[in-house]
Amino acid sequence: MTNKHKLIPLASDHGGFEMKSFLAEKLRAAGYEVVDFGTNSPESVDYPDMIHPLADAIAYGKYPLGVIMCGSGNGAQLAANKHKGVRAALCWDVELARLAREHNDANILSLPGRFISFELAWEMVQVFLNTDFEGGRHEQRVKKIEI
Ligand code: RB5
Repeated sequence: MTNKHKLIPLASDHGGFEMKSFLAEKLRAAGYEVVDFGTNSPESVDYPDMIHPLADAIAYGKYPLGVIMCGSGNGAQLAANKHKGVRAALCWDVELARLAREHNDANILSLPGRFISFELAWEMVQVFLNTDFEGGRHEQRVKKIEI
């Protein structure tokens, strides 16, 4: 793995807490530095409380890419996409994670913590972090997303 982006922010609610812990360990072992926006236990919390701070940091350019999780990945993605400049993609396989970068220039990967294996999530994270936006015809489409 190339460690293109070294500093990786992660955030989840309780539904993604276990997956986040797993991914944080994998990322650190692979040489990344993890910035953990919580949650820090399996206790029930409201996903916007962790997701908004991470999405805000992406929106103002502190980190180029981030990874978020909740049980389904839906709530996390919905909250993140409220931030101007954030493009959070809900993905559940490797090819979707690749396309989210290549075609949509997604800057946040949203994962369904209760619906895919942690190993698959790790594969997806590696692909997401190491795939470039293709630009070209996708550039004008992505530019039209913001309203
Ligand atoms: C929490 O039980 C669950 O609703 C949450 O993790 C997420 O799936 C929401 O979209």
